[in-house]
Amino acid sequence: MNYIELMVEEHSNIKRVLSVIRKYCYKVLKNEEVNYADFFILIDFVRNYADKHHHGKEEKLLFDRMIKELGPTAEKLVRNGMLVEHDMGRLYMQELETAVNNVLKGEDEARLDIIANAISYTHLLYRHIEKEDNVVYQFAQKNLSSETQQILEKECDQFEQEAKTKNTQSKYISMIAELEEKVK
Ligand SMILES: [Fe+2]
Ligand SMILES: [Fe+2]
Repeated sequence: MNYIELMVEEHSNIKRVLSVIRKYCYKVLKNEEVNYADFFILIDFVRNYADKHHHGKEEKLLFDRMIKELGPTAEKLVRNGMLVEHDMGRLYMQELETAVNNVLKGEDEARLDIIANAISYTHLLYRHIEKEDNVVYQFAQKNLSSETQQILEKECDQFEQEAKTKNTQSKYISMIAELEEKVK
């Protein structure tokens, strides 16, 4: 698996959790019994797997090379598109966390803010992932020099090895299945 295939696979893992988030929100909407603390597990997944682990490789490695090597079109695509969307995702998670805390403090109306922020995050990420899979990654693969691709391959591998020492991949991959089971 090359570094692009790896990141596309991570997108699939992230999409599985987006589907879990939607299911949790539907339970909230229907006022079914929900363990609201489970939202903290979802937030942990988003912050540490989707953001730190996956966006980490994009921001520090791939996008950085694209900006340096591929000129103004790539720079615009990355800075005004992808990076802005990563930031919007962070904001939704911050507001989601606040909403969950407010619900746990007894503020029933904050259930609305849970749904609004969590669902907005899923919509944002579905669109974002589609753009990366079909446009951004393809653009990078077609236009980055083969030398740069080899460097990226090595850097991504190193990034993965470092994450492995903290069990990041295994921890969050098994978390996905557990979450799917919980929300069945
Ligand atoms: Fe991204
Ligand atoms: Fe991505």
